[in-house]
Amino acid sequence: MKQYIIKGGNKLSGEIKVKGAKNSALKIIASTILTKGENKISNVPQINDIKKMMDILKDLGVNIKKNQSGSFLINTDNISKTDIDEKKGKDLRASIILSGPLLARFKKATIPYPGGCLIGKRPIDIFINGLQSLGAHCEEKNNKYYFTTKQLHGAIFVFPKISVTATETMIMAASIAEGTTVLKNTAQEPEIIELAKYLNKCGAKIKGAGTSIITIKGVKRLLANKTKIMPDRIEVGTFVIMGLLTKSAIKISNCLPEHLETFLLMIKKAGGKLEIGKNFIKTLPTKKFNPVNIITHEYPGFATDLQAPFTLLMTQAEGNSLIHDPIFNGRLFFTDKLNQMGADIIMCDPHRAIVKGPTHLFGKNVDSPDLRAGITLVLAGLIAQGTTTIGNTYQIERGYENIIQRLKNLGAKIYAK
Ligand code: EPU
Repeated sequence: MKQYIIKGGNKLSGEIKVKGAKNSALKIIASTILTKGENKISNVPQINDIKKMMDILKDLGVNIKKNQSGSFLINTDNISKTDIDEKKGKDLRASIILSGPLLARFKKATIPYPGGCLIGKRPIDIFINGLQSLGAHCEEKNNKYYFTTKQLHGAIFVFPKISVTATETMIMAASIAEGTTVLKNTAQEPEIIELAKYLNKCGAKIKGAGTSIITIKGVKRLLANKTKIMPDRIEVGTFVIMGLLTKSAIKISNCLPEHLETFLLMIKKAGGKLEIGKNFIKTLPTKKFNPVNIITHEYPGFATDLQAPFTLLMTQAEGNSLIHDPIFNGRLFFTDKLNQMGADIIMCDPHRAIVKGPTHLFGKNVDSPDLRAGITLVLAGLIAQGTTTIGNTYQIERGYENIIQRLKNLGAKIYAK
């Protein structure tokens, strides 16, 4: 099992280019099931979650090739099955989004139970109820969900709770359903706007993506097109915190700061010094940080995916901060690892923690519990005194491409063994 070894304490400098967004690429790749012909998708991040999604699709009969410029050519014309491989599907929670396009095009889809997840219980009731409202039947047996339909038809569906992937699944399903679908209380993430934009380019009739009401006029079939994956806003936020924590001047380029408004507001409150351009952010050495209370929220609120690195930043602030993450049940358990490294964080309940700062961190042997907590441990290692060894690095590589080399290029003392 690969480990990361980090020697903490040195400053970083230079430029880091943001890669394509994992949570946009996964959905756009899945949406190609709705199209006829060859899709060309560029700026796809080379990360474990994308490889898994492509493996699942290849197993269904999808043709995926990489061209010389690094774009992926995806043709789903010859899909020969609609049951997702059990092992592959279970390994990737996002495989559930395939239910929408498979059901809409083939009238059936078999999805393995997504299973437990390290960041907490993640039910799929909204996906099931949503697809049922469009006329699907869902049977649960042998740890699988069997979705079938005679024909999906338009409906009004109100999300009982805002869900990113359920919104995307319903957009895909409704795109080629018969009639008009109105989705209410939808998630508004930029990744959803990107998905709708791509589907519209392919001939779909989707209005309102990026708001809480989305209307989709079903069409017969979509025609393949091409697109470039947007920059990963979670990478941007992670690197901003990395620059601030290490008191370094680094340039984070190829990004869209407009996707991080609430996050940047909280960084400003914390006293983090930044220079923000249209498509870059520069971190400036900041001596002292203020404590800031945050609550994670659906977009445009503070992203739950940036809670872990922000919690780490607060271990260096002068005073107490309250971190409240109501979205998932298990996203604060990693604070235990930061405490092992010298932080002083008290978990009040699964959703709230009080961080007492500033604390001195020390290198330790820690395992990466999940993707966002994992990269946070890497950042902790960069400011800790001594050597930090991180295990279970597979989790980190689910979402951060070539991270060792990219951090080395900034001068970080990090290597994998
Ligand atoms: N929920 C239900 N029932 C459902 C679906 C969701 O109760 O059927 C609940 C969840 O348990 C959670 C809340 O609704 O409490 C919101 O979850 P959501 O469905 O929005 O999360 P998701 O779509 O599964 C996506 C991202 C996550 C990100 C969340 C929140 C993808 C592939 N994943 O997950 O990203 O944290 O939205 O923004 O887009 C990550 O990249 O590390 C990651 C976990």
